[in-house]
Amino acid sequence: MDEFVIKGGTVIDGSGERIADVTVSAGRISAIGPNLSGSQVIDASGCVVSPGFVDLHVHLRQPGREEAETVETGSRAAALGGFTAIVAMPNTEPAQDSVAVVEQVRRWGQDAGLCEVLPSGCLTIGRAGERMAPLGELAAAGVHLFTDDGNGVQDPLLMRRIMEYSLDLDIVLAQHCEVSRLTTGAVMHEGCCSSHLGLPGWPSIAEELMVHRDIELSRLTGARVHFLHLSTVRSVDLVRAAKADGLRVTAEAAPHHFTLSDEMLRTFDATYKVNPPLRTAEDIAAIKAGLRDGTIDAIATDHAPHPAHQKEQALDAAPPGMLGLQTALSLSLGELDLDLPQIIALLSTRPAAIAGVADRHGGPLAPGRAANITVFDPHASWTVEPDRLASKSRNTPYAGRAVRGVVRHTVLNGVPVVRDGEALR
Ligand code: DOR
Repeated sequence: MDEFVIKGGTVIDGSGERIADVTVSAGRISAIGPNLSGSQVIDASGCVVSPGFVDLHVHLRQPGREEAETVETGSRAAALGGFTAIVAMPNTEPAQDSVAVVEQVRRWGQDAGLCEVLPSGCLTIGRAGERMAPLGELAAAGVHLFTDDGNGVQDPLLMRRIMEYSLDLDIVLAQHCEVSRLTTGAVMHEGCCSSHLGLPGWPSIAEELMVHRDIELSRLTGARVHFLHLSTVRSVDLVRAAKADGLRVTAEAAPHHFTLSDEMLRTFDATYKVNPPLRTAEDIAAIKAGLRDGTIDAIATDHAPHPAHQKEQALDAAPPGMLGLQTALSLSLGELDLDLPQIIALLSTRPAAIAGVADRHGGPLAPGRAANITVFDPHASWTVEPDRLASKSRNTPYAGRAVRGVVRHTVLNGVPVVRDGEALR
């Protein structure tokens, strides 16, 4: 299907909101306006037609942990969730610290053909936090976002050097903020709930110290820093103040950090174990406020598949992480008191800019632009059933939850990859 018209929807992108049809031809948007026709019609009545979503934070697990996810299964979950581009986190085995590995991940993404897979690169070799990864070589190979996600870079001197080195490259340094000396053995947020349960906690300060350190290092060096999965009141306050000072910082938050609290750990169910951990009602309110006022630039899923035999262990043995790609839109629509243009900015336009793909993702939807488009019904409801998700893993904390917002169609470079809610590949 090379030429078609998306008919009857409301187009919402950074340039506004209008009732319009969209024609697509040879991979690009050819026209936008009322009453357009085409030989093939994709029905968008009752739906929003938006630029495809961009997820800055996805664990695809390949190479190395294919029993949890592959680039193909994760890409399918992404497409079904409305994403046309995803940043693949580097904590694979081997890690994404060489051109060979990032090129292989990108190729797997191209072979799957379900969304654009943008491999991140490691900040340090093997994510070990000791020696700088070959940032220049990786940047030359097209890597834009660098992170040791899963780990924060502990050594402030090394982080300073990485920031200084990055100034000659058009790249973003994305930090997983966690001072690991403060979180050894943690299984949940440190607070009242962890005290009642007698479980070792991840204190908020472990995150906030590194957010603060990297804001100050960015102030010193001028480096561009992105803060991954912010989860605490103070982290949001620190980023807000840094932005007010004009620093080159951006931030993201994950849906689980604005929908679930540490109270869930009373179940002792490791489905709710995630890093950074689910925090308190006050933290949730701060994340929502940060999303509302622009302190937090993007909603990013931190999609972290793990096989059942690992997640069904006791809290201390189970790995942290939860699925996110197919529930992000619905949770954003249902739990954030934001209008559709704001939600689309958080899921598409602003993450596209951070990922360095604004030339082809994130809108605006306009003639001549690459046709990366998501069509969703913001009112239709569905129930999260783990067995019906496309991921190879089942570790969603939202099983059985009734939510609203259904992705109907996803178009990648002019090719429908999801139609009527079904993946075509
Ligand atoms: O919960 C998490 N899971 N947080 C991380 O930082 C890593 C991720 C994973 O790779 O499973």
